[in-house]
Amino acid sequence: MEQEKKASAQDDETVIPKKRPLNVVFIGHVDAGKSTIGGQILFLSGQVDDRTIQKYEKEAKDKSRESWYMAYIMDTNEEERDKGITVEVGRARFETETTRFTILDAPGHKSYVPNMISGASQADIGVLVISARKGEFETGFEKGGQTSEHVLLAKTLGVTKLLIAVNKMDEPTVNWSKERYDKIVEKMTPFLNSSGYKKKDVQFLPISGLLGSNLKTRVDKSVCPWWNGPCLFEALDAVEVPPRDPNGPFRMPIIDKFKDMGTVVMGKVESGTVREGDSLLVMPNKAIFTAGYKAVLHIHSVVEECEIVNNMICIEKFNDFSQLGRFTLRTEGKTVAVGKVTDLPTVGENA
Ligand code: GTP
Ligand code: MG
Repeated sequence: MEQEKKASAQDDETVIPKKRPLNVVFIGHVDAGKSTIGGQILFLSGQVDDRTIQKYEKEAKDKSRESWYMAYIMDTNEEERDKGITVEVGRARFETETTRFTILDAPGHKSYVPNMISGASQADIGVLVISARKGEFETGFEKGGQTSEHVLLAKTLGVTKLLIAVNKMDEPTVNWSKERYDKIVEKMTPFLNSSGYKKKDVQFLPISGLLGSNLKTRVDKSVCPWWNGPCLFEALDAVEVPPRDPNGPFRMPIIDKFKDMGTVVMGKVESGTVREGDSLLVMPNKAIFTAGYKAVLHIHSVVEECEIVNNMICIEKFNDFSQLGRFTLRTEGKTVAVGKVTDLPTVGENA
């Protein structure tokens, strides 16, 4: 009896979440339907009432963007609503049977790839949204659209599993055509494999974000007789990701900060556990050099003028912390290289 009591007291102290927390980023070419799906998920999980939807319907109509009303749930600022595109990563939460999800709704437009990178770097898994609409799949994937860039970036940023939501299946040019769906799967699969996503890491499914079909419940056979697989919620529920090490050293890259009765920082914990009262070290906070600092470099017999081109940044070797040891180089709006940090100077060596 005594022991039992002890055990339950311990349970009270240690916060053991009943459901696993998981961050899911929605990625894909502009207009594929990411925000619409995000909005629909919130609607289907009872977080948005009919009156709000009606309000958005009216607002979208006034802006001659009738079909965007579901996306307005995620796209909250004026610029996004006027232009019908996501600029900043939208955030929302919902729960399935096993999981507490945080949705990160990334922008698809090529001008906002840096924002997409920030969203994907916080995610455990991704939903790659592809429009099945005639011409849109082609523009997004085959003709230099963001579908492939997003896949490569997601892989580099540590998104290990992808659900591929073939969206807009309701659209008149698609009309839940099995042929169109199969063609998209066939064209995407070799590319996904060559990007490092093995067969076991990806799962395709047909959906309509606008109508909410095959999201929370399986699509009706009268609508799509050939689909025997899961709906999006079921597929999300079933995704398994390697757990983070709660006993490792505490590591949390800071994504954003703001002041509100003290300094608040936001980020995703990659390793370790933090408790109230813990003292944490925020790095880099002792950077001696800053960008633009000029000096003379002596290295073996060579003497060269040099310039510090970047602020000191915190990184880790890929082998120690894969999430903190990956990098992407982009120039003039294009991703030109992805890589891993294989070695670092030990402290003191770089002085
Ligand atoms: P960005 O954030 O700018 O990258 O776009 P997005 O992927 O978030 O697309 P968004 O949700 O803004 O939708 C773009 C357009 O596609 C809107 O007109 C939507 O109504 C339409 N759309 C999205 N999902 C569906 C769908 O399932 N069926 C149909 N017919 N249209 C859809
Ligand atoms: Mg969007």
